[in-house]
Amino acid sequence: MSVAEAVRIDHCDVLDTLGADVRAGLARPLKELPPKYFYDERGSELFDRITTLPEYYPSRCERAILNRHAPDIVADSRAEELVELGSGTASKTRALLYAMAGAGSLRRYVPFDVDESVVKACAVELVELYPGLEVHGVVGDFGRDLAHVPDGRRRLFAFLGGTIGNLYPEERARFLRRLRTAMAPEDRLVIGTDLVKDRAMLEAAYNDSEGVTAEFNRNVLRVVNEGLGADFDPESFEHVAFFDEANSWIEMRLRANGAQLVHIDGMNLDVRFADGEEIRTEISAKFTRDAVRAELGQAGLRLDDFLTDDGGLFGLAVASPAEPFRSRAQS
Ligand code: SAH
Ligand code: TRP
Repeated sequence: MSVAEAVRIDHCDVLDTLGADVRAGLARPLKELPPKYFYDERGSELFDRITTLPEYYPSRCERAILNRHAPDIVADSRAEELVELGSGTASKTRALLYAMAGAGSLRRYVPFDVDESVVKACAVELVELYPGLEVHGVVGDFGRDLAHVPDGRRRLFAFLGGTIGNLYPEERARFLRRLRTAMAPEDRLVIGTDLVKDRAMLEAAYNDSEGVTAEFNRNVLRVVNEGLGADFDPESFEHVAFFDEANSWIEMRLRANGAQLVHIDGMNLDVRFADGEEIRTEISAKFTRDAVRAELGQAGLRLDDFLTDDGGLFGLAVASPAEPFRSRAQS
């Protein structure tokens, strides 16, 4: 099979909501921008650099878990297809693909991400690495476009990197219910969840000494500038990240360094920032095993296994559709 025959990529319009999201988010008492807009090509590159930082333990720990347990996960699920939500560069995913190829069951990989550049790059790379592999990429928003995941048999869904924690609790509940609805009885799910631990270690992971995280955080302003013709000066906003223990999440913000007047040409909108005023750009929830089990259960998913690294810093939940399941709409 040539690359062109082995790769198919479907596109949803992921920027059509940018204007409405920015208008609504910046009108709130605590201004807010949705985190999915971090990830254009530059944002994905910056995130990839974050995953190699010494302070950013989640990627290292999740990789160790996957490297150790991928063969068992694959054997238990007998998966023929891997569907990965928020796939990014799919760097840790390779342990799962490798195990599927080793088991002789690897047929198709479905990377699903808002950033087209990473979907394309990993599709081309992986079909070259695994001759015979079919890649069906989807450029879309997993909060909205799950219906674009192609039907399949014996699918292993993967949602890695702790990205589930970037959704608010109500968004998580809705997302998990929709995902459960999309799953067939024999499909399986692995979800990476960052775990509660001491504040210093949590906060260091989101305040690296090289400033890569700060640059990544500011990237959302560049995306708004480009997409809506705004004139944010990213260098006039400071990166802030702290652990909110009551909510059990890390919160990322951008703090205006001096009063700012920002013009958003594409929306004919002026936005004022007082000196020191902050924009919330992302949360990153930290879980316990019991919290993960409860949230999955609420969505009709059964926790089959909860794998952690040796240090107990990060958890990988393995789950299946619970039977019988009645969705909220039905019950
Ligand atoms: N899975 C990779 C990347 C995690 S970063 C890892 O574990 O290292 C989060 C990824 O999710 C990014 O690639 C980003 O582009 C993607 N993403 C963020 N919000 C999204 C959304 N709403 N829909 C689809 N993809 C999203
Ligand atoms: N999914 C990553 C996490 O929650 C995203 C992330 C890592 C992030 N570092 C960041 C988001 C810094 C904003 C700023 O860990």
